Amino acid sequence: MTKKIKLCIFDLDGVIVDTAKYHYLAWKELAKEFGYDLTKQQNEKLKGVSRVQSLKLILQWAGVSKSEEEQKILAAKKNEQYVKLIQSLTPNDVFPGVREFISELKDNGILTSIGSASKNTRLILEKLEITGLFDYIVDGTMTTHSKPHPEVFLKSCEALNIKPENTVVFEDAPKGIEAAKAGGMYAIGVGNPDELSNADMVISGFEGFGVKDIMLKKN
Ligand code: BG6
Ligand code: MG
Repeated sequence: MTKKIKLCIFDLDGVIVDTAKYHYLAWKELAKEFGYDLTKQQNEKLKGVSRVQSLKLILQWAGVSKSEEEQKILAAKKNEQYVKLIQSLTPNDVFPGVREFISELKDNGILTSIGSASKNTRLILEKLEITGLFDYIVDGTMTTHSKPHPEVFLKSCEALNIKPENTVVFEDAPKGIEAAKAGGMYAIGVGNPDELSNADMVISGFEGFGVKDIMLKKN
C-alpha cells in the first residue's frame, strides 16, 4: 500500500493522552443515577464511540429506556462532569514520545493531523499545549458519521490534499482501526495487540518509536 508517507493522522483520546479514565468516571457517575454500575470492561467498549452512541449503549446495557429529549439532557450532564475532570490536564499528560515522534515527522516533511470523535478535542489540545503541532484538526463537531466510518480521517486527507494510500493513522480503538482501513489508509494500533488485531501493525506507545519503524507493505 503506502509508497511514501505524507500524512500521519492521530486519534486523540488514548493515543495522545489518557482521557478514558475521565470518560469512565463521568459515565459511571451518570449511570449511578439510574441505578446502574458501569464496569471498566464496558468502558473499553466505549472507546472511539461518540457521546450520543455511548449513552445509547449504556442505556441498553442497563435496560433503561429514555426519550431522545431525556438522552440529550443526560449526555449534556455527562459532558459537564467530563469537562470539569479534564480541567486538570497539563502538558505533562501528553504520552511519552509523542512530541518527539511528531517532531521527527516534521523534520521529514510529513504532515500531521488529528482525527477524533470528541467534541472536546480543541479544549484538550489547548490544555496539553499542543494545538500548534498539527497541520489540521478534525473533531466530533465536524463529522456526521461515527467511526468505523472513515469520514473523520478522510476529511484530513481532503483538506491537506493527500491520498489515503499515503496516510498512516494511529488509533487505540478497534473501531478506529476499522475506519482507517475502510478509508484505504495504513492503520497502526496503539495498545494491546490482542484487542487491535485488525491493525496493520501495533505499537505499545511512542517512546523510542520512529518513522523507520513503520513497516509498510510494498506492492
Ligand atoms: C472518543 C472517545 O475519542 O470521543 C470516546 O474515545 C468519547 O470515549 C468520544 O465518547 C466523544 O467524546 P466527547 O468529548 O465529544 O464526549
Ligand atoms: Mg481513542
